[in-house]
This record gives sequence, C-alpha cells and structure tokens, in this order.
Amino acid sequence: MAVTLDPPLAAVAAEVDAALAALDLPAEPAGLYAPVRYVLDGGGKRVRPALVLLAAQAFGGEAARAAALPAALGVEVFHNFTLVHDDIMDRAATRRGRPTVHRRWDTPTAILAGDLMMGLAARMVVGDGDGAGERAEAHYRTVARLCEGQTLDVAFEARDDVTADEYLAMIDRKTGALLEHALELGALLGGASRAAVSSLRQAGVALGRAFQIQDDLLDVTADAQALGKPIGGDLVEGKRTFLVLTARPRARAADRDWLAAVLDGGLDPDDVPRVRNRLDALGVLDTAAQAVGHFTEAGRAGLASLPPGPAGDALRALALGLATRTS
Ligand code: IPE
Ligand code: IPE
Ligand code: MG
Ligand code: MG
Ligand code: MG
Repeated sequence: MAVTLDPPLAAVAAEVDAALAALDLPAEPAGLYAPVRYVLDGGGKRVRPALVLLAAQAFGGEAARAAALPAALGVEVFHNFTLVHDDIMDRAATRRGRPTVHRRWDTPTAILAGDLMMGLAARMVVGDGDGAGERAEAHYRTVARLCEGQTLDVAFEARDDVTADEYLAMIDRKTGALLEHALELGALLGGASRAAVSSLRQAGVALGRAFQIQDDLLDVTADAQALGKPIGGDLVEGKRTFLVLTARPRARAADRDWLAAVLDGGLDPDDVPRVRNRLDALGVLDTAAQAVGHFTEAGRAGLASLPPGPAGDALRALALGLATRTS
C-alpha cells in the first residue's frame, strides 16, 4: 500500500520496510512463518517505529538512532501483532488492501501468527543492552494497557450507554499506550532526562487520542482504496466509535432507524453512504475533526521540549501530518 505521509515519514517507512524484510525468520513450519512474513511485508505507514527513531535521534543523535533500530522494529512487530488479533475481534476481512490473516488462512493461524509476533517484539524491544530492565517493564505495561483497551472496545459493543470519558479511557489504552511506548523508548534510548521521558509519554497519549479519533473518522470519510479496506466497517460492525457516540445525543427522529441499526450491529453496508451524510449533517464529522486538531496540538505541546534540531522538527511535523492523513 502506498505510503501517504511524506516527508518525514516516507524515508523512515522505507527504512523500516527494508529492515523488516531482512529479519531472519525461520521458514518452517510454514503454517506459522508464512503468515508472519505476509503481515510484516504488507506495508503500513510505519508511524510507531518513526516515533522511536526520531525521538532517539532528537535526544542522542545519529548513534542513538542507529542503536534504537531493533526497538523501533520491535514496536512495529508488536503493532502488527495487535492488528492481526484486532481483525479477528472486529470481524474484518481486509487490511492494507489485502485479505486479513484469519480470512486468507484461518483463525487458529491468525492467533498463532499474532502470538509469535508478540514474543518476537518483546525480545526486540527489550534487547540486552543498558536499560533492558526498564524497557521490559515499560513493554509489559504497554501489553497490559493494550489488552485492557481492546477488552473495553469489545465490551462496549454490547452497551448503548458508553460515555465520552469511557471512550477516551478505552482509546488511551488500545491506541495511546503504544504511541506513548514508542516515544518513551526513543527518549530512553536517546538518553533523555526523566522529565523529558515523561513529557514525551504525555505527548504520546495525546497523539494517540488524535490518531484514534482520526481513525474513527477515516472509517467514513476516506477513499476505500487509500484506506485499504471498505468504508463504514465500524458502522456495520456496531463499533462504539467517536462518531457514533457524538451522534447519539444529537440524533433527530429521522435518525432513529439507522442509529438503532448501527448500535445493534445490523446496518446494511448499502446504507453506509446515507449514514455518512447524516453524520455530516449532524456536525459529527466536524466535531471529530476538531477533536483531532485539539489533541494533535496537545501532543505537539508535549513535543515542544525536544532538543532543537532536525529530528525534533521532523517529529513535530510528523505529529501534524498524522492529523491530516488520508489513510
Ligand atoms: C491502525 O493503525 C490501528 C490503530 C491504532 C488505529 P495504523 O493506522 O498505524 O495502521 P498501519 O500500520 O498504517 O496499517
Ligand atoms: C485499533 O483499533 C486498536 C488496535 C489495533 C490495537 P481499530 O479496530 O479501530 O483499528 P483498525 O481500524 O481496525 O485498524
Ligand atoms: Mg478494533
Ligand atoms: Mg479494527
Ligand atoms: Mg478503526
């Protein structure tokens, strides 16, 4: 899939793609490693490893950036594990323009490919150099937060009373935790002070909110080809996204039927364009875009303390680019 976030992301994405392609994985059993290769070779924006590498470079220069490459790749492998399992939970047939692992193979294959990537990622993130204990602790915290968030995401599908605060608590875990971890790892590997590590973690949480609300928005506003999956998947699957939660209190009589269908997970895919128009008319798409802008600025404020230099500038530009991404 085409990388749409350039510069500074395009060059980092190419570097990450090449490094992942060069990862030395066994060939056998092919029932395990072929799907792992399929996933890691499938592209993606490579946002998280870019955060690791740029943060490491901002604090520790070129040497720190080079030393951070395994951790950066580990964060991307971990992200890919979460996507494979997320697609099972979300009943998604397509990702990055290709069949999901559980559709192309089957669910046991997707579970095991994900498990393998989770363990591999931990080894790559933690490594064995200085600070391994601290990275291990941070990584385990991230695993737990992400699983908590995904648990809440799935549990919310059965509830009609999810609040905005509950939604934010859920996305801080399922999405924010990994962006936070990426910036944290970069800062730690760059030798940043405690205070700087903490600011970067906060920036990661804010950017995670912007990123997930934008992800929810793109589900109805993106071009399907650029997005790499059909439009409206969240609506059809009854996900409690920012859009649905914002629409609920604004809905008029004319919205009763489609909203009930969405909340029941019974929306006809043919009705997605009509629902999109109603979300637009109710001002929901504007509200989502404003929320993305708000949290992006909060994230950029947390990045303001980065040491001056090209990597810090690139990191701030990347944060801004995430808010205007189209995939
Ligand atoms: C998708 O992440 C999952 C979310 C946390 C929203 P990305 O949008 O970063 O997916 P890829 O890696 O670019 O495909
Ligand atoms: C992303 O949630 C969170 C994780 C994958 C951990 P989504 O379910 O919204 O992600 P997409 O839209 O399928 O990529
Ligand atoms: Mg999901
Ligand atoms: Mg999903
Ligand atoms: Mg989504």
